[in-house]
Amino acid sequence: MGYKEAYQAARDDPEKFWLQAAEAIDWIKKPSFALDDSNAPLYEWYSDGVMNTCYNALDRHLLAGRGDQTAIIYDSPITGSKDKITYGELTARVARLAGALKQHGIGKGDRVLIYMPMVPEAIEAMLACSRIGAIHSVVFGGFAANELAVRIDDATPKAIIAASCGIEPGRVIDYKLLLEGAIEIASHKPDFTVVLQREQSPAALKDGFDFEWHSFQKGAEPAECEPMMGNDPLYILYTSGTTGQPKGVIRPNAGHAVALHWTMKNIYNVDPGEVFWAASDVGWVVGHSYICYGPLIYGATAIVFEGKPVGTPDAGTFWRVIEEHKVVSFFTAPTAFRAIKREDPAGEQVKKYDLSSLKALYLAGERADSDTIIWAQDQLKVPVIDHWWQTEIGYPAAANPMGLEALLVKLGSAGVALPGFDIQVLDDAGNRVTDGEMGAIAIKLPLPPGTLPGLWNAKERFQSSYLETFPGFYETGDAGVIDEDGYLYVMARTDDVINVAGHRLSIGAMEEVLSAHPDVAECAVIGVGDSLKGQLPLGFLCLNAGTNKDHSEITAECIKLVREKIGPVAAFNLACAVERLPKTRSGKILRGTMAKIADNAEWKLPATIDDPDSLVEIGLALQAMGYAKASI
Ligand code: COA
Ligand code: AMP
Repeated sequence: MGYKEAYQAARDDPEKFWLQAAEAIDWIKKPSFALDDSNAPLYEWYSDGVMNTCYNALDRHLLAGRGDQTAIIYDSPITGSKDKITYGELTARVARLAGALKQHGIGKGDRVLIYMPMVPEAIEAMLACSRIGAIHSVVFGGFAANELAVRIDDATPKAIIAASCGIEPGRVIDYKLLLEGAIEIASHKPDFTVVLQREQSPAALKDGFDFEWHSFQKGAEPAECEPMMGNDPLYILYTSGTTGQPKGVIRPNAGHAVALHWTMKNIYNVDPGEVFWAASDVGWVVGHSYICYGPLIYGATAIVFEGKPVGTPDAGTFWRVIEEHKVVSFFTAPTAFRAIKREDPAGEQVKKYDLSSLKALYLAGERADSDTIIWAQDQLKVPVIDHWWQTEIGYPAAANPMGLEALLVKLGSAGVALPGFDIQVLDDAGNRVTDGEMGAIAIKLPLPPGTLPGLWNAKERFQSSYLETFPGFYETGDAGVIDEDGYLYVMARTDDVINVAGHRLSIGAMEEVLSAHPDVAECAVIGVGDSLKGQLPLGFLCLNAGTNKDHSEITAECIKLVREKIGPVAAFNLACAVERLPKTRSGKILRGTMAKIADNAEWKLPATIDDPDSLVEIGLALQAMGYAKASI
């Protein structure tokens, strides 16, 4: 079946298409239908089917004779260690950890928060939870204690599994200390923690509350897989919304397993037994789907890479990993390639390695600029596939489906809508724009299996954030264009979310932190273009009258505050004090116009602006920081 046929088949008879796709996973009880639309616009997939995701990722491969195949390759240039774990070993480890969790009172539906760096134990923890039906919520290591606390209060986990530390170039990050801080701030308290002690910085453990990873599991009876209903949540993953309160995206068990399995061949063109590498982090959706669940459900080999594209030890690390482990499909964010290109523009490092195993490179997480794509194509001599997805969706909604049919690659486009996704570009009134015109990217409901059925603890927010603006559609928050051949070009966000080094961050969250500074009366954060990270946050601060502190002292304190409250991942290093913020007459801050001025993009003076001079002040402040080079 080619792309067009597959797309048409999913559109004409979704029941048949998705029940057929569901044959690829193992069921305890097969679903009697695919879609339940009785509660539209809320949808469920495979809701009367019974299965277990961990069983599909592990146990069934042992029965199929893959016990001795490597499931996970751990490659950590930052610690100088490597390891290979077979499916047999991984199953035994996961079953034991799951058994220990069960013995300590964790069961179906309980939440378990995971706060770990890129070590295989992070994957084991995720799978152990899914084995016993506990809902895991992984938090990215670059977030500060406060962000962790917000997630603890929302997910109310019974247990937290953490590592004693994470390792960043030049510094060891005491995860346990951050965790202790978070538990102190949070109103909800977990029953206990399990801590993986790392030699770089072992943590002090509190008797009866903190259990050491190995002793916690000693003598535990391996746990069997818990039967789960198709729509039972597998995990909650928090992602940035427009406010400081992150959105807890719920991922259902069955649709997720079916969809990920489908993508492994049809999009990423790998076969069971081959090596698939997503150089991301378990804290992000890419890590959930393509470091952990996708490759394992499919019987491929996944790589857990603890390092950076540059500096661990050099810009050749990615190529070394591809050669050494014979990676077939490689997935990362464009920012990683920009970092490599900056250090090794002539590709001297690339030449040192044999990359003949590699069939294609996949980029996502942010807009891939043409320079980066062309450089990657020239260096790697394989197709470079930009594809588009979101935490909410869980896997690509648009791509070049290389395994299904390699389509023409169009520079600047994230490919075509995949089977199950009716992607449309709409105007403000919800009408479809003509091909080639810019508008809001929306997806006609229902979304296909594996996508979010809702937000944790936030039923109304789910409806208002995604379903209300365009009735009958899911609002993606992205803006873009579809051309006459159906290729999607994702251009920008329509909301207050920015993308920094492939990390999705909330402007609202940063503004909340800045507003809490005693000298700040009002503030605005915008995303400005950056040649490495894609975007960087930049804050404008209106200070309280009468403050006698130096403005630079206040901005420095604000920068420190964001790092402390949100985390280093926010990369908030640019801020300045201004007299006033440009606003509309109704009081709306003109962030979009400010961002356009900063980036030298075309902009118009909004007709509704209250005080045009306020924009002049912003322009001058931006120029002082090296932005807004075009005159305003
Ligand atoms: N734990 C603790 N701190 C972390 C962290 C983690 N897991 N990940 C990042 N940080 C810290 C970094 O050390 C850095 O701190 P600093 O301000 O003290 O230097 C800060 O957060 C920002 O990190 P990052 O955005 O990664 O920037 P960088 O300058 O360290 O590296 C790149 C730049 C491009 C190499 C890096 O961003 C990268 O590899 N990006 C790929 C992103 C990706 O895979 N995204 C997933 C979507 S597919
Ligand atoms: P996240 O939920 O963290 O995966 O971020 C999703 C957002 O990242 C999307 O809504 C887009 O704004 C952006 N994004 C992801 N992939 C692409 C892409 N291929 N091109 C442009 N933007 C992308």
